[in-house]
Amino acid sequence: MTAKSLNSLKGVLVVVSLFLLSSCQKAEKAPAPKDALIMGFSQIGAESAWRIRNTQSVQEAAEQAGIQLIFANAEQKQENQIKAIRSFIAYQVDVIAFVPIVVSGWDNVLQEARKAGIPVLVTDRKIESDESLYAGFIGTDSEKEGREAALFLLDKFAGRKAGDMIRIAEFSGTVGSSVADGRAKGFRDSIEKEPGFEIFYSESGDFMRSKGYELMRTLLENRPRIDALFSHNDSMTLGAMDAMREAGLRPGKDIAIITIDAQQKAIDALNAGEVNCVIECNPNQGPLIMDIAKQLVAGGQAPRFIHVDEAVFREGDDISILPPRGY
Ligand code: AHR
Repeated sequence: MTAKSLNSLKGVLVVVSLFLLSSCQKAEKAPAPKDALIMGFSQIGAESAWRIRNTQSVQEAAEQAGIQLIFANAEQKQENQIKAIRSFIAYQVDVIAFVPIVVSGWDNVLQEARKAGIPVLVTDRKIESDESLYAGFIGTDSEKEGREAALFLLDKFAGRKAGDMIRIAEFSGTVGSSVADGRAKGFRDSIEKEPGFEIFYSESGDFMRSKGYELMRTLLENRPRIDALFSHNDSMTLGAMDAMREAGLRPGKDIAIITIDAQQKAIDALNAGEVNCVIECNPNQGPLIMDIAKQLVAGGQAPRFIHVDEAVFREGDDISILPPRGY
């Protein structure tokens, strides 16, 4: 088969793919040059402002790179992601990238991609599969994010009286996701070495604002003493802050707040003294994903793990020159 006929076959397959992708998933095909490299991308969903920006970054970067993107939104279900990846394999895309909602359960579908000779990039969140089953990982360092959260707390309460116990509530992300596990681990690794800090409550709010609100509202019903909230993302934090205000508490003052993501609303809250520390989780991963995808399709190799740059913003920092976040 000539390169030209292979390309027209791919064109037909992309059209068929849009028809075949399961009805619960919306696949969107961005227009691109005729002979463009084709990437199948499976996104988790749109659970947070961060996630929406992550999707935009992938779509913008694909367009910039002249890569034709078949984008599938899994609506928070791993089974939808697996179906989408199987569709990408059937369409013989050039490269597959996906954000794994949870760490486990990917081996079979990754073996199918390997058998079909299609390189796979794992993005944003990590997986626990055999590393030979995927070409590389591009995303966040969630253990480091958890450690940064703990370091801020240790510093903030360094002047506490001997014998005082700092009581911490933790709102964690999606159960079984690498980012929830990593943030929890990094946090504990650093905080548990120090006496005087106790995580007295830890529940998953699934990275959603509505659940952050519900968790805090329920928690406050018995009026426990909470010195600090460590929240795995800004969406849950914003919901929790609503519940604190309703209960007559001042976020950032009556309860110290450490949050991850750094969306604009969290930065604004930091400026207003309602949040005490914001740890950036960088959603702008699209350009790196496209660069590495091109290298792979050209027969090159991807670095095993690439962690995107991330900053920490603390109360008292001068963040007046920070450009608008865009999410
Ligand atoms: O995987 C990254 C996390 O997922 C972000 O912290 C969160 O906002 C998102 O939904």
